Amino acid sequence: MTSQNQILFEKSLKLIPGGVNSPVRAFRSVGGTPIFFKKGLGSKLWDADGKEYIDYINSWGPMIVGHAHPEIIAAVQAVAANSLSFGAPTGLELEMAEMINKLVPSIEQVRLVSSGTEATMSAIRVARGFTGRNKIVKFEGCYHGHADALLVKAGSGLLTFNDANAKGAPSSAGVPAEVVADTLTLEYNNTQALEDLFSKIGDQIACVIIEPVVGNMNLIVPKMEFLQTLRALCTKHGAVLIFDEVMTGFRVALGGAQALYNIKPDMTTLGKVIGGGLPVGAFGGRKDIMQCLAPLGAVYQAGTLSGNPVAVTAGLTTLKIIQEKGFHEKLTAQTKKLVNGLVQMAKDAGVTFSAQSVGGMFGLYFMKTCPASFNEIMQSDKEAFNKFFHSMLDSGIYLGPSAFEAGFVSAAHSDADIAFTIEAAKKAFSAI
Ligand SMILES: Cc1ncc(COP(=O)(O)O)c(C=O)c1O
Repeated sequence: MTSQNQILFEKSLKLIPGGVNSPVRAFRSVGGTPIFFKKGLGSKLWDADGKEYIDYINSWGPMIVGHAHPEIIAAVQAVAANSLSFGAPTGLELEMAEMINKLVPSIEQVRLVSSGTEATMSAIRVARGFTGRNKIVKFEGCYHGHADALLVKAGSGLLTFNDANAKGAPSSAGVPAEVVADTLTLEYNNTQALEDLFSKIGDQIACVIIEPVVGNMNLIVPKMEFLQTLRALCTKHGAVLIFDEVMTGFRVALGGAQALYNIKPDMTTLGKVIGGGLPVGAFGGRKDIMQCLAPLGAVYQAGTLSGNPVAVTAGLTTLKIIQEKGFHEKLTAQTKKLVNGLVQMAKDAGVTFSAQSVGGMFGLYFMKTCPASFNEIMQSDKEAFNKFFHSMLDSGIYLGPSAFEAGFVSAAHSDADIAFTIEAAKKAFSAI
């Protein structure tokens, strides 16, 4: 019998390239038909055929308190009734700026945008304007949105769809080589490579942008020494250190990875959780850097829907909820419980597997030990992951459809959800 998912996908293929509005949704890496969703509540989702799933994607991070949280829905409905957009300042965006400043103290000033891509693209422009330098440094496998200059060795979506192995070349067609000529790429967690680069051209580097915990080549945890050296080198050479906390912000800890590791970047980019599921991004940091922005300074950046009242309300309400006492401790513990259970099931089934978590983010790897870099994660068994993914999906567990995606747990995931997931994994591992 043809499912509603299949019918919708076949129709979508005719009108939307690849049938999807963002490539990883197409299931190309794992094969099969993407799931079309109708409804979400708490930790659960229901697809077009009415099948129920426990959701470990959480809209790729934003749904940290679960789907359709009643407080968020009520707040959004109330604000929406006063108009959806003004294209002018509101008190809500000020409240958001105050909230971000309180939770992420390295952000002295902040500007709101509508996506993570806009946040990173704008942060880099500001860093270049501030330093008067052109070169930017990123790390292999880190994704910072789809702005041209950042599409080099750029993480999960591109790992799945393109040959991202050519060093220094754009990982997307349509990006001229000249546009990425000033984008330098280093191996994540490789302190020596960092020192070598800075010793050669440190004074030409405008900024270094990094996922302080990587979620875009699966989950990769930073070595403390690597992050500390990076901070010291940027300070020594006057390069702007940008922590891209679009994924880690408010998720690995209330103050993000910078609070967890006690490292203060010069600039931070945010997204996902600050919109609570609606489109909000932000970039901010040191006041002297942020004051380069128009209308004060010479760096131009703008947005019709920036600071949109409805989107900001969803984000603000989410940020209020996650400040409840013990929120992150519980999220971290639930995520650990999931990861430990999965490792045990794999061990029992004799499957080569490892897993780890940071706060509410987790990584599953079909390899002996948790990877520390792009090259290491590339050694994982993709076929084993694909089998595992489909078995889990059949059991009603919705994981990221690629061996190179991190997973997300929300505060709505109950002990029963975790136990059900581990039981489903037992079956999935035994089938590998
Ligand atoms: C670390 C990081 N930066 C930037 C982005 C881009 O955000 P958006 O998809 O909202 O443009 C993402 C998206 O996944 C991300 O994970």
